[in-house]
Parts: sequence; C-alpha cells; structure tokens
Amino acid sequence: MSRRILLFGASGRTGQVLRPAAEQAGYEVLAPAHAECPLENAEGVSDLVLGSGAQLVVNCAAISGLEACAADPLQAHLINAVAPAAMALACRHTGARFVHLSTDYVLDGRRPGLKDESTKCRPISWYGESKREGELQVLEALSTAVVARVSWVCGNPAKPSFIEGTVERALAGQPLAAVADKDSLPTDAADIARAVLALGEGCYSGVVHVTSSGEPLSWWHCATLALQVAVEQGVLPAAPPMEQQKLDEVPFFKEPRPRHTAMCNSRLTSQLGIPMPTAEETVRRVVLRYLADKAR
Ligand SMILES: NC(=O)c1ccc[n+]([C@@H]2O[C@H](COP(=O)([O-])OP(=O)(O)OC[C@H]3O[C@@H](n4cnc5c(N)ncnc54)[C@H](OP(=O)(O)O)[C@@H]3O)[C@@H](O)[C@H]2O)c1
Repeated sequence: MSRRILLFGASGRTGQVLRPAAEQAGYEVLAPAHAECPLENAEGVSDLVLGSGAQLVVNCAAISGLEACAADPLQAHLINAVAPAAMALACRHTGARFVHLSTDYVLDGRRPGLKDESTKCRPISWYGESKREGELQVLEALSTAVVARVSWVCGNPAKPSFIEGTVERALAGQPLAAVADKDSLPTDAADIARAVLALGEGCYSGVVHVTSSGEPLSWWHCATLALQVAVEQGVLPAAPPMEQQKLDEVPFFKEPRPRHTAMCNSRLTSQLGIPMPTAEETVRRVVLRYLADKAR
C-alpha cells in the first residue's frame, strides 16, 4: 500500500521542492491549494487532515513576510499559529506523524554564534512572535510532533533567493549591495525536503534545527561566494564590487530583523544521523543549479 503525505503550502518556496521529493520517495502526495483550503478556516483544516488518510502531514504554509505579518498580526496569528495547532490536534486523532516548519526568527539574535535548540526564544517581530506561538501550540497539541526550524531557504529556481538574485543582478551589470552585519545559515530547499521526509519517517519529537552546517555567514559573505562560483564557471569575467550594507539602513525593512540567528544543527546531523552540507557547499550547489537551469 502506498504511503500518503498531506502537504500544506506546496506552492511556496520550500513546498514546491518538497512535493516532488516526496513523490520520488514513493509517497502519494495530497497538496491542497490555498483556495481549496484557506488556513483561516481552522475547522476546514482539521477536517481535511481527519479525512486525508495521510500517514504524514507536513506544514510548509505560513505568512513568511515580516512586513505582511506586521500589517496584519491577527492574520499572522491565525495562519502561523492557530492553523498549525489545528493540524497537530487532528494528527493526534488520526495517528499521523506531523512535521511543522518554523524559523530562526523565533530567536532574538542578540548574541553572535551558533544557537542550539535549548536557546531561549525571544522573537522581536510579529512574524517571529506568531511562529513561536505556532511552535508552542503544535507541541502542546501533539507531543510527537516535530518542529523543524529552517533558515534562509534557497535553491528553488522558481522562487529565487538572494543568492540566485545576486548572480542574476551581476549578470545584468547592475550595482550590487548586501547586508554585512547580520548572519545566519543559507539552507537548500532540497536538503530541507530530504531532512523533513527523514524526520517524518523517524520517531523524533520536539524542536530540531534543519540548517546547513558550519559557521554563520552574512548575506554579504554568501553573495560574495555566489559571485566567486559564477566567475569559476566562466559566466562572469571577474567578481564585480559589492557594497557592504548595514541592516539598519535597508529602506524596505520596516520590521526589525534579528541579527545573529545561525542555528547549530548537531541534533539533526549527529544525534539523528541526517547529514547536511556546509553553508559554503550550499551556496556553490545553489549557484550551479541556477546556472544550469538558466542555460536550459
Ligand atoms: N523562506 C525562508 O527563507 C524561510 C526562512 C526561515 C523559515 N521559513 C519557514 O519555512 C516555511 C516555508 O517557508 P517558505 O518560504 O517556503 O514559504 P512561502 O514561499 O512564503 O510559501 C508560503 C505558503 O503558504 C501558503 N499560504 C499562505 N497563506 C495561506 C493561507 N491563508 N491559506 C492557505 N495557504 C496559505 C502559500 O500559498 P499561496 O502562495 O498560494 O498563497 C504558500 O504555499 C515557513 O514555515 C516559514 O516560516 C522560511
């Protein structure tokens, strides 16, 4: 009998990559579109899980824009906290495994360095607040749930991140700038998909950091690495200059961003045996995939 996965948020940056990965892993995938299952309707969400026959439920849906959450905190709370709690509660009734995606923005990012799962959460934005509430409500509703915190999702050519965007702008000869005083770990959506499926098949419960390995990198550092790969590949003659921006000076960031949120992934990699590449390998792989996709 084929295994069935119910995937919320399949049209998003992560969900678009998770869906084919689940199919390749042999799952029958149920992926309700936004219009088919608006997450504002917690009862509808619950009914969908209860009637799905899924052995695994994965939630990649969210309001993930910081400014969007600040513009409508109640809506952010409904989508990022109430709906995931309804999914978790329904999984308790069906016995399905539940993996809920969360974020490094539940941390305040005041201290530099890697943060493990025991680090106290003190979100500083409406987005982070709603995601933290979602984590707590999910774990309260379903003690076997997995809260998979991810950061700087990249590597989906259909929804390019700042890494692909930097190469794109460089190829177009546009001026380049990136924030140099904020760090985290870029993580390939393909690695998140692989880890989420492994977590769904395992028996771990609780919070786990699903990010690349290695030391924190700034956006500026990631963008510089991306340009180096483009030069190595011969698509740029030399790396163009890139201005170092300060986080506080980015005009379209209306909401505060935490500064140092890179997460330690050793629970995932060492304890649970799910390997992750380094952040540098991730940037390289993402640029190579982007260039290969562009050449097609
Ligand atoms: N992207 C990152 O760098 C990043 C970093 C850290 C953590 N995360 C977390 O990772 C997870 C996945 O993020 P992502 O970037 O892949 O998300 P995304 O690209 O913003 O996609 C969000 C998904 O949620 C759906 N959605 C939003 N509002 C909905 C509603 N009211 N009803 C039904 N569906 C709704 C969207 O559907 P439509 O598009 O059809 O509206 C879309 O499929 C989220 O939990 C996010 O908080 C992401």
